[in-house]
Amino acid sequence: MRPSTLLTVIPLLTTGTALGGSTQHHDADTNLTYSSITHPNGFTYRIALPSLPSTSDTNHHSSDSAILQIIAPHTLSWCGLAWGGRMIGNPLSVFWPTGASTGLKAIVSSRIASGKYLMPTNYSSAAYTYLNPTTANETHWTVTVLCQGCTRWNIAGQHVDLTESIHTNFGFACSKIKPTTPASNMSFFGIHEQYGVWEHDWSLGRNERFEEAVRGNLWVGDNGEEVV
Ligand code: HEM
Ligand SMILES: *[C@@H]1O[C@H](CO)[C@@H](O)[C@H](O)[C@H]1NC(C)=O
Ligand SMILES: *[C@@H]1O[C@H](CO)[C@@H](O)[C@H](O)[C@H]1NC(C)=O
Ligand SMILES: *[C@@H]1O[C@H](CO)[C@@H](O)[C@H](O)[C@H]1NC(C)=O
Ligand SMILES: *[C@@H]1O[C@H](CO)[C@@H](O)[C@H](O)[C@H]1NC(C)=O
Repeated sequence: MRPSTLLTVIPLLTTGTALGGSTQHHDADTNLTYSSITHPNGFTYRIALPSLPSTSDTNHHSSDSAILQIIAPHTLSWCGLAWGGRMIGNPLSVFWPTGASTGLKAIVSSRIASGKYLMPTNYSSAAYTYLNPTTANETHWTVTVLCQGCTRWNIAGQHVDLTESIHTNFGFACSKIKPTTPASNMSFFGIHEQYGVWEHDWSLGRNERFEEAVRGNLWVGDNGEEVV
């Protein structure tokens, strides 16, 4: 990949915005507060986390749940988040529109990469639940999911726990080329033309009523079914 395909590095400190350019976004429909960033390619990532356990709690154990919302223009045919800030050896959440006019109009695929020239395979230690809004319109596609297992993992003997961190390095990748079978979360897709790493301040998206917001916003399909 040519260096010129790299996106502009986002400045670590800019006036008026938090570290890495993350800002706080409150969603009135769900009452969730997200840390949010929009990359120069138009791709928006938002993350909402539960509040931290109180330090006086003797069973002090933080949740590995996170809500991830992505909003992308249709000019991007798939985009992903690398939770550990690099491509290999960390949970990857990959998203794309299905092209369907009913049901799930955009989906998440749980992946992990073991090499840069290998297709990322399915990662079964993260569990996803679709939330609202998960949809597509003429211009954009949106996926909102609860991920359990994206902020703490044990991979190849390495234990990583991001649940109590204030900011963390994330990686992203996007492509204009569609996955080969967009209706399936197992689809093949090719290499990204766009990728980058940024430092994300996700302390901006802590939520006291996290569980309540999850329960109140489960994605419901056309026939009233909940897809979990
Ligand atoms: C078929 C699928 C994929 C292929 C063939 C592929 C290939 C590559 C290659 C060759 C590089 C190195 C580029 C360079 O150093 O100039 C790279 C970097 C990167 N990729 Fe991928 N990739 C794929 C999918 C993904 C996915 C799904 C994600 C995230 C969800 C991702 C995230 C990244 C990131 C963040 C980097 C830069 C940081 C690093 O080098 O670890 N990639 N990829
Ligand atoms: C695809 O979806 C099924 C059903 O929700 C799930 O069990 C499976 O883990 C998912 N696979 C990937 C790669 O995300
Ligand atoms: C990936 O998914 C396939 C089909 O659902 C399953 O047989 C396989 O065990 C999964 N692999 C991993 C590493 O989860
Ligand atoms: C399509 O969805 C995007 C993202 O949610 C939104 O900003 C835009 O206003 C929507 N367009 C229409 C015509 O509703
Ligand atoms: C929204 O959440 C905040 C804090 O998380 C809470 O104080 C407020 O009562 C909530 N509002 C509604 C309408 O649930």
